[in-house]
This record gives sequence, structure tokens and C-alpha cells, in this order.
Amino acid sequence: MGFNKAWADTASVLIASVAKLSIDETRENPWARYDLGQAVAHLSIQAQHDGLHTHQMGGFDGAAIAAAFNLTEDQTVVTVTALGVLGNADDLTAELREREVAPRSCKPLTELLLVND
Ligand SMILES: Cc1cc2nc3c(=O)[nH]c(=O)nc-3n(C[C@H](O)[C@H](O)[C@H](O)COP(=O)(O)O)c2cc1C
Repeated sequence: MGFNKAWADTASVLIASVAKLSIDETRENPWARYDLGQAVAHLSIQAQHDGLHTHQMGGFDGAAIAAAFNLTEDQTVVTVTALGVLGNADDLTAELREREVAPRSCKPLTELLLVND
């Protein structure tokens, strides 16, 4: 979807990660998205270990994926992950190349932790 189409189409595989939001007909599963995130995180680590690359995306057409895979009401697409061999940044558009080669930075822990002492 959107700018993701410009690069994600060349990935070997696009994995739609689907959370099942209920345990059964009477109980919701409040941890469904958490569990799914952990599964995708471990997939990413395993892929890296095996010499592959992953790129997770929040920009996708969830309704189109749901229709294509006949998802039920309580199944929701949370992310799509491109999996494959890392491509060449020179093959990207100028805008995407700039983002791809930009230095990475992480927020300091003080911005991420809520401390109540
Ligand atoms: C929830 C989530 C949604 C994201 N959505 C997109 C997206 O739609 N398109 C995209 O190119 N990157 C998206 N990203 C960013 C990439 O997955 C990745 O974190 C970023 O490109 C930096 O990764 P790298 O340092 O391994 O290259 C998203 C990241 C997260 C955590």
C-alpha cells in the first residue's frame, strides 16, 4: 500500500500476521496482539540468524487481505512483514534510498520507561 508498494513487491515473501482476537465464542483474547508481536519478533531474529532480512509494515490494505484469505470477524491483520534477501539500496527511488541508508538512532531509555518511585 502507498510507498510500501515501491519496494515491498520485490520481496521473496510477504507475510500477513493475523491476530485471533477471541479465545472462544464467549471470551476475548486481550493478549492476541502481544502474542503475535512476539511471534513476529522471533521470526525476525531467526531470519537474521539464517542470513535473511525482514521489514515489518503497518501500511497495508487490511480489508483486501482479509477478503483474499477469507478472514473471520475475530481475525485481524496487524502487520505485514517482507522476508527475503536484502536488496540493493541503489535500486530504490531517491527518497526511499535516503531513508534506507540514514543512520539509525534509538530513543534513550529515559523516554521509554515510566518510573513511579
Ligand atoms: C508497527 C510498525 C509499522 C511499520 N510500518 C512501516 C511501513 O508501513 N513501511 C515501512 O517502510 N516501514 C515501516 N516500519 C519500519 C520498519 O519496519 C523498520 O523498523 C525500519 O525500516 C527500520 O528498520 P531497519 O533499521 O532494520 O532498516 C514499521 C515499523 C513498525 C514497528
